[in-house]
Amino acid sequence: MNTLQAITKRRSIRKFTNQPLSQQQIETLLNAAMLVPTARNCQEWDFVVVRDRNMLNQLMKAHPYAHMLSTADCAIIVCGDTRRETAAGYWPGDCGAATQNILLAATDLGLGSVWLGVYPTQERMQAVAQVLGLPKEVLPFNIIALGYPDEKKEDVDRFDPAKVHYEKW
Ligand SMILES: Cc1cc2nc3c(=O)[nH]c(=O)nc-3n(C[C@H](O)[C@H](O)[C@H](O)COP(=O)(O)O)c2cc1C
Repeated sequence: MNTLQAITKRRSIRKFTNQPLSQQQIETLLNAAMLVPTARNCQEWDFVVVRDRNMLNQLMKAHPYAHMLSTADCAIIVCGDTRRETAAGYWPGDCGAATQNILLAATDLGLGSVWLGVYPTQERMQAVAQVLGLPKEVLPFNIIALGYPDEKKEDVDRFDPAKVHYEKW
């Protein structure tokens, strides 16, 4: 699968089979995440990998729209460490880029994934930080649920020329 195919095939998957991911697959995803561009190359993200069923259940309780963690094999929580931020205010963008690389790499590996927003909703951030025992300077950006897909989604076409402006608005 080439890059454009992965971009086209990636869809949010919310139902997973019980086939586990390999450690090698997880490391492939994390390697993809760490190859993204970041502001001043500060690479201020950290990644918490959760596979323990009890921990996945706790995360499910910490987030109101995370029911799919009940069938996910794995969750990666993308976090921003504000102590390493050298360009103030850029950490969410840097974490978003890392997230998208994980989603695309997962698609390439034949895995399903969904981005569960945590930042900037304070209640979710506090609840997720508590479950994971994050230091106060480390902010949870999102939860990525991962597993082998147990649902199929058709390709979509969202290209809208009305949203494109050339030269000026
Ligand atoms: C910032 C953000 C937050 C999201 N939060 C959730 C969520 O809490 N629960 C969920 O099931 N999907 C969540 N999604 C996935 C979106 O619902 C999904 O991307 C959107 O419906 C488009 O569908 P697609 O990903 O299949 O193209 C989120 C996506 C983004 C980018």
